[in-house]
Amino acid sequence: MFADLKAVATDPILGLMAAYKEDPNPNKVDLGVGVYKDEQGHTAVLNCVKQAEALRLKQEDSKTYIGMAGDINFNLHMEKLAFGSSHKALLADRLTTAHTPGGTGALRVAAEFIKRANPDATVWVTTPTWANHISLFQAAGLKVKEYAYYDYETRGLNEEAMFADLAKIPAGDVVLVHACCHNPSGMDLTFAQWQRFTELAQERGFTPLVDMAYQGFGAGLDEDAAGLRHLADAVSELILCSSCSKNFGLYRDRIGAVTIMSQNSAQAQNVKTNLLSVVRSIYSMPPAHGAIVVSHILDSTELTALWYQELAEMRNRINSYRQLIIDKLAAQGVEQDFSFITRQHGMFSFLGLTKAQIAQLKTDYSVYMVDSSRVSIAGLNHSNIDYFAAAVASVLKA
Ligand code: LMR
Repeated sequence: MFADLKAVATDPILGLMAAYKEDPNPNKVDLGVGVYKDEQGHTAVLNCVKQAEALRLKQEDSKTYIGMAGDINFNLHMEKLAFGSSHKALLADRLTTAHTPGGTGALRVAAEFIKRANPDATVWVTTPTWANHISLFQAAGLKVKEYAYYDYETRGLNEEAMFADLAKIPAGDVVLVHACCHNPSGMDLTFAQWQRFTELAQERGFTPLVDMAYQGFGAGLDEDAAGLRHLADAVSELILCSSCSKNFGLYRDRIGAVTIMSQNSAQAQNVKTNLLSVVRSIYSMPPAHGAIVVSHILDSTELTALWYQELAEMRNRINSYRQLIIDKLAAQGVEQDFSFITRQHGMFSFLGLTKAQIAQLKTDYSVYMVDSSRVSIAGLNHSNIDYFAAAVASVLKA
């Protein structure tokens, strides 16, 4: 039966990661996958994680099963981190959380949960969005459609088209919105736009699904959750998918969470049985390591303070490169306006280069970026930024 299988295209982001690894050019620059790198181009383990792992090694006395919802203490921490520790939905027992294998695991559980709640639901995603969003919801048998979001002309948010599209989405459908650090464009909703989004969600009755993979990489932990919190204050139901890959640097440990906010605590009980049965039928129980590490950090005042500091260092380093890219391109004689880079947030910037220019950057200069021209800014450092700017300048002039 395997003979009938046709080969499928490699994932655009992970394929780029593999191609970069194989490239022997010593000057190669990796701006592909969304992974933080320091000034030395290294993705180090955070010190708070190292300390929490040492504690885990010392304290762990069993490897017995953890249960379908995963680590309950971790789940509570994730709810507080996202919604704030005294959010009314949390206090009223309206939140149901399961810890999941990464943010992608959270999205897949959410997809299967949506399929159960409303098999006919369409999931609406931003134009453009993280490529895996589309395949992931389709794999669960859901329809996926796009709503306007990014304007390639103005290099900003396509605001009016976005609200016009949202105003047509019916109750029963799901609208995926990026909490912060939009992947791939870096263009986030302002608070006023979150307010308008919220009004439409209330008026139309669609269910928001907030994807929060980069909390703390935009303006700060609370600032990045402000839109979500406003939405959660107003609507009765929503879904949140969050990830600890980026903000705790726990990429390969695969740790994230899915939270369902229900109308009331009685409904939350039904939600819980359904959510856990979805988990049981996919992977039964999540891996424990990452959740226990995060719990150890957030249980300790000292480790939490260290985490805030390390997270701020990552965020500030990325942000400091936004203006630097503009300055370095100008120094190379580039006349195009790249000022939009400072209006974007998080790990990514959308440079607006053509597919031919992106291909040339890869073949002639070993500069790797996703072919939408999304660059992961954390791949830049003081040793490669001049090389990068010269390469971009030369393809722009060609
Ligand atoms: C990215 O967008 O680069 C990351 O979220 C990694 C991935 O899995 O695609």
